[in-house]
Amino acid sequence: MQNLETDRLILRAWEQDDADFAFDLYSRWEVQRFIGNPAQIMTARSQAVERILAWRQMDHPVHAVWAVQLKATGQLAGALLLKSIPASGGSVPLQPSGDTEIGWHFHPDHWGHGYASEAAAAVLEYAFDNGLEEVVAVTAPTNLASQKVCERIGMRHTGQTSRYYNSLCELFVVTAAS
Ligand SMILES: CC(C)(COP(=O)(O)OP(=O)(O)OC[C@H]1O[C@@H](n2cnc3c(N)ncnc32)[C@H](O)[C@@H]1OP(=O)(O)O)[C@@H](O)C(=O)NCCC(=O)NCCS
Repeated sequence: MQNLETDRLILRAWEQDDADFAFDLYSRWEVQRFIGNPAQIMTARSQAVERILAWRQMDHPVHAVWAVQLKATGQLAGALLLKSIPASGGSVPLQPSGDTEIGWHFHPDHWGHGYASEAAAAVLEYAFDNGLEEVVAVTAPTNLASQKVCERIGMRHTGQTSRYYNSLCELFVVTAAS
């Protein structure tokens, strides 16, 4: 996968040494409350180890999940995801929809600095530079912080949809041409 760099951030591959951070991130209800159906927190460090392994094994020419690191301190701040979004449906696991979603999960210690938007803008640029035509984002209707990130990076709100994740979500879209 390709590392990305912004003014304040480095986006790089997840390493197994990042498992303590990933567990701290995903074991917090304030991070997980709008993610997943149903939302649930990690309860064991081994889950973070497994998640990092799965991210490292993503085999796609463009999709990736980056660890977002602060240049100033070297601290990890969160995760930036560019991945296939599952379609709603009856089968488990849900089947791919064919669409690509962008997502962001940041540690509360690093909210309120513009890091999620800065990292997401870099990932969108990377996505379009590498041939994707359209990227979507979905948020829970009450996840206003995430909706603001979508708007800050130039995504267009197209209303609500039940097309993905067996959930009713706010849908945001951006195309390479826009
Ligand atoms: C969604 C989430 C990433 C948003 O984080 P965030 O830090 O609010 O988002 P941004 O990086 O865009 O930062 C914007 C905030 O930083 C402030 N800020 C400070 N310095 C800034 C700068 N240099 N540039 C931009 N914004 C800056 C902005 O004013 C804004 O604060 P406000 O919303 O109180 O006005 C975070 O809430 C999160 O990780 N939530 C849990 C996981 C989650 O729900 N993910 C989404 C699932 S759909």
